Formats: sequence, structure tokens, C-alpha cells
Amino acid sequence: MKRYHLTTFGCQMNEHDSERMKGMLGSLGYSEAPSREDADLILFNTCSIREAADNRFIAHLGEAKRLKSESPDTVVGVGGCWAQSVKDEVFERFPFVDVAFGPGQIHKLAEFLASDSITAQGFFEFEDFAGHLPTERDRPFQAWLQISQGCNSKCSYCIVPSVRGREQSRSLADLVGEARRLAADGVRELTLLGQNVNSWGRDLPAGERVGFGGLLRHLDDVDGIARIRFTSPHPKDMRDDVIAAMAECQSVCEHLHLPLQSGSTRVLKAMRRTYSAERYLGLVERIRAAIPGIALTTDVIVGFPGETEADFEQTMEVVDAVSYDHAFTFVYSPRRGTEAAVMAEQVPEDVKRERITRLVDLVQRHAAAHNATLVGTVQEVLVEGPSRTDPSMLRGRTRGNKTTLFRADVAEGELALVEILRSTSQTLGGRPAVTAAA
Ligand code: 5AD
Ligand code: SF4
Repeated sequence: MKRYHLTTFGCQMNEHDSERMKGMLGSLGYSEAPSREDADLILFNTCSIREAADNRFIAHLGEAKRLKSESPDTVVGVGGCWAQSVKDEVFERFPFVDVAFGPGQIHKLAEFLASDSITAQGFFEFEDFAGHLPTERDRPFQAWLQISQGCNSKCSYCIVPSVRGREQSRSLADLVGEARRLAADGVRELTLLGQNVNSWGRDLPAGERVGFGGLLRHLDDVDGIARIRFTSPHPKDMRDDVIAAMAECQSVCEHLHLPLQSGSTRVLKAMRRTYSAERYLGLVERIRAAIPGIALTTDVIVGFPGETEADFEQTMEVVDAVSYDHAFTFVYSPRRGTEAAVMAEQVPEDVKRERITRLVDLVQRHAAAHNATLVGTVQEVLVEGPSRTDPSMLRGRTRGNKTTLFRADVAEGELALVEILRSTSQTLGGRPAVTAAA
């Protein structure tokens, strides 16, 4: 039996693509090898979102090169966003790579492996939804559901539209069908995936356009699914019907990841985000009014070309005003082929570093304050397994997506009620809630 080793970089979409690669390799009779040394097929599913992602991956690729020089029959495959972004040069720069494919071309890997090809091959077309590949899930009770692929936005910093192509939505019937199958298979928590989830469905035939809010309502009706999450929405498409569906659907979690990127309207414009700081703040107000206590998280980029100290201070003000439960903060990184990469006025590295330090500090303070307000409350926790640092504790997440540690005799995949006793900016700690007889 042939064995593969797969390393995944990047976002949840890539993790999900890797599940499908694994499912496909399983159906071709491959099994997973414990290390690269033991593998006949060394695979990478790559990311290119920031320069650091490229660099991290290229170090790993060096090891594959060494292993291949020791045993030349080893096949080296590189898939995903980085592969797509360097498609014209990949075989020249890395001659030991046998097969390279973009994120939409996972199924072509099977074609390559099934053929007796000895020449390097690349697959980089954008095609219709590759959809129905078998997947191999890590956890039986959690699943990703990819609702769309690609992205029609033109954010000037972002490489994703160029590596994942135009947006294509999967049909409602298809998605509801898959959700039902997953529920029957024991899935309790579904995370809907798309580059821009809430623009889902605009490309579908007129009679099938129920909007993202409509999709949430249909999935909420699927028996057995206790929790629905989604990532990532774009503020521009966060319409009132989506907010209403979030508020009314029992299984949709009280958590929203709403990427801000910048709090300066001038910078937002240069980023082509199509909203102002004021509009974003207004949106947050409407969301909080409809869904009291909702946990809000975000992405922020620091040091976009032309960002002045005054622009950055506006970002600090918006982050302070919204008071996020958590934020992912990124130093701007020029990406090949993007509009912003060639803008004049790139911000010096030391200025970016200094700004991000201030931002992280502010984010931590708000995170700690939010978590502290949960002490004394009872939270529903989906148990995911033992704690990574203390195996005598269970680890799970609340509906607001907070990692929670507690000791109890509850199986993985079960929902437990936990009384919160402690908090930090990162985690909650508690004990099983003593539920009074109703
Ligand atoms: N530089 C820094 N951060 C970026 N992101 C996307 N592109 C870049 C870039 N060129 C961030 C955005 C996005 C998150 C996934 O990554 O904040 O929301
Ligand atoms: Fe995901 Fe973007 Fe990285 Fe591709 S480039 S893996 S879409 S984060």
C-alpha cells in the first residue's frame, strides 16, 4: 500500500481542502504515513496570504527536496494558493516538484497519480465547483460545509481573488442535502465556509436565490445540527435579513467574525473595502441590538501603504469603540500581483511593528474584560477533547467561540453546561453547572 504525508498551511478553507485530499487519497488506496521519511507521496497544501506564509512553507519544501534526492521514487506534490500564485515558475524554481495544482484542482491530483506520467505536471485552471470529493474529517461531530468558492471582491491587499478565482455558489438543495447527510453521520456543529460567505447565492439562477439569511434558515431546520458557524462574512453584505436570521435561528451561534481591516475611512477606501468606519460602527450597533451579548471578532491590518499615525489612531479608536472579544492582527505584507503591493508610501517595518504592538495590547485588554464578564454565568460548551496542556481537563468551546477548560465526565462531541469560574484573555475555566430541577 502506498503512503502519503500531507502538510497543511493557511486558513480553514485550506484545512477543508486537505480533508478532501485525504478522502480522495484514501479512495485511491493510499494510507497516511506518520512522517515524510515514510511517505511515497509528499504533499503540501499551501497558503500565500502573507509573506511569512510563503517563507514558512519554502523551508518545509527544502526537506522534501532532500528526501527526494535520497529516494528518487518519492513523488512531491504542491497544491493550494501558493502553488497557484507561482504557477508559471514553480517547476523552474523547484525542479524536484512532480505535480502542482491550484486550490480548485484537487481532483486533478487523482488523475496525475492514476496516470503513469513521469513528467512534471501543473493544473491551474479555474473550473466549476469541484464539490463532491469524499472527505476525511478529523472530528466526527464537527464539519465544514463549503458554500462557495472564489471571491468577487477586489480588496487591494489580497491575493485570494487571483488564486481562487471568481465566486461560485453551491445550490441550496445541494447544501441542505449535504447538511442532512452530515447530521445523520453524527455532526453536531457545522461551519459554513466561503471567501465571502454572506454574498452566497448571487450567482445562482433567479428562482434559487434565497440569500445568505435564507440559507441560514434552511440549515437551521436540519435536525441534529446543534450549532452553525460561518466564516468569513464581508461587512458590505451584512444585510438586515442576515442579522434577523442570525437572531432567530436557534442553532446559529452568538458569534460573528466581522473583518474590519482598518478604522480609517481613507485607508478603507484605498483597500477597496467599500464601507466607511461610520458604516461599520452602525452595523455593529444593529447587530448588537438584534443579538444581545454576541461575541464579535475581527481581522485588522496594520501598516497598509500610506497609513499615517492619524489613520492608525482611528483604527485604535474603532477597535476601542467596538470592543472585540478577540482580533487577529496582521502587519501588512505586499503580495505579488496585488494593487497595494505597488503603491508608493509603503510603511517602514519598524513603524508597522510599533503600531501592531499597541494594537495587540488594546485587543488583549478588551478580550480579558469580555471574558471576565462571563465569570459567574453558565455556558453551553461543545466538548472537543482533552486539554492540550492538562489531559485531566476537558476542552471545548462556548457558543461565543471561547475555549473553555473544565473537569467532568463528558464524552467528546457532547454539549455540557459549564459554570464559569475563571477567565484570562484567552480562555475560560469552570466546572459542570449544577442545574436546578426545573
Ligand atoms: N497583508 C496582511 N494581512 C493580510 N490579510 C490579507 N491579505 C493581507 C496582506 N497582504 C489579512 C486580512 C484578512 C486575513 C485573512 O488576512 O486581515 O482578513
Ligand atoms: Fe486560505 Fe487565503 Fe491562505 Fe489561500 S491564501 S490558504 S485562501 S488564507
